[in-house]
Amino acid sequence: MKSFQVKPLSSLQGELSLPGDKSIAHRCLILSAIAKGKTIIENFPASLDCLYTLKVFKQLGIKIKKEKDRLNKINVFGKGLKGLNKPKGEIFLGNSGTTLRLLLGVLAGQNFRVKLTAGKSLANRPMRRVTVPLRMMGANISAKRESRQNVKQIEEYPPLTVKGGELRPIIYKMPVPSAQVKSAILLAGLYAKGSTRIIEPVKTRDHTERMLKLFKADLKVKQNQIVIKGDKELVSPKKIFVPGDISSASFFIVMATILPNSRILVKNVSLNPSRTGIIRVLKHMGVNIQIRPHTLSKVRREIRNWEPLGDIIVESSRLKGTQVKREEIPTLIDELPILMVAASLAKGKTIFEGVNELRVKETDRIRSMSQNLQKMCADIKVVKVGNSENIIIKGVKALMGTKVRSFGDHRTAMSMVVAGLVAENKTIIDDVSCIDKSFPEFLNLLKLLIS
Ligand code: S3P
Repeated sequence: MKSFQVKPLSSLQGELSLPGDKSIAHRCLILSAIAKGKTIIENFPASLDCLYTLKVFKQLGIKIKKEKDRLNKINVFGKGLKGLNKPKGEIFLGNSGTTLRLLLGVLAGQNFRVKLTAGKSLANRPMRRVTVPLRMMGANISAKRESRQNVKQIEEYPPLTVKGGELRPIIYKMPVPSAQVKSAILLAGLYAKGSTRIIEPVKTRDHTERMLKLFKADLKVKQNQIVIKGDKELVSPKKIFVPGDISSASFFIVMATILPNSRILVKNVSLNPSRTGIIRVLKHMGVNIQIRPHTLSKVRREIRNWEPLGDIIVESSRLKGTQVKREEIPTLIDELPILMVAASLAKGKTIFEGVNELRVKETDRIRSMSQNLQKMCADIKVVKVGNSENIIIKGVKALMGTKVRSFGDHRTAMSMVVAGLVAENKTIIDDVSCIDKSFPEFLNLLKLLIS
């Protein structure tokens, strides 16, 4: 436990570059491991989750070397689609949900049995959403089955045991909007003989599709359908640059927005439209935010893995309430906690519709964020609408510093740091060590900016 005290800050000025995007980095590493030959990954983040993906592929027999003195540059020596080795013993995935769910897709196509175990928060996250389609494809997966309060059907949780083998293609309509599940099916689709088709009623982040195309997979995207033809080796692009993480940037963006006399420049951030919902919403809220997309030559764009990137400039702004529709939620799912802080200080009412997926993140983020912000005198209500929930926030003049909890969740912890910087009096957060999961540099970067 590492508690942290935040004092009010008068303004924020400066510029920063962020470590590589966590979602993109997982995918870079996974595809590099199952393509043949060497891939150099630049700007690989040191977040705990990504380090778990790295450790797991080492356990599966892939040579991965960090470049001397350049910790964020790694070389991955891939061995082809079926080149992974049965690990000695079980594989522990910490609390990285992306590592676990994507890995299941890859292991579904390997010819060995392996047990996957998880840390405390991941052990409580639902897995049926991914085990169901993978079993339809022919994977043999067993999991801990439990019926829990507030969960309608029997759910599955880690630990899981997977025994892969011959896979068949499926046509699958996603019941829950989830990029992790979509990616697990696409990765399993690489091993199936024939075309796997995924239908996404609500679009989610498309990093896996972009990365698979970069590795020359046979993949087509048409509106909300993705078709992947399997049984074809991937081809490494040799070098990949991971753009800065927009989810990490969002804490600094909101900080500069709500503090007076502030202006920051965030360089080299991923501007993938499936992730920039926060920018669209902040603009609706009246934020002065400028986007400068990088224009790159075709070759450089390929190296930068077809992920658009650019710089963001944001200034203190008067926020007004807005309505965020259910279809927009996947484009800002990880930014909802920090947007709840922004909405608490906006003039008028903000409604976030269809946010129930927040209940099954690292912690129940509806609960963690509303309890904390209510303690800080914010006006928040959660209402049930059919099978889902809406969050309604009426802006207040000021938040009041007090003792709050991270609930062991990195994004709740960072959101509380930002809320504390703008609140009156001091705020004490019980434990901020969880921030290392996605953004270990967060507090140091903040100290550098304000010193
Ligand atoms: C992620 C997808 C999202 C997101 C998570 C990372 C990914 O989860 O919340 O932080 O890298 O695919 P879901 O797929 O569960 O929505």
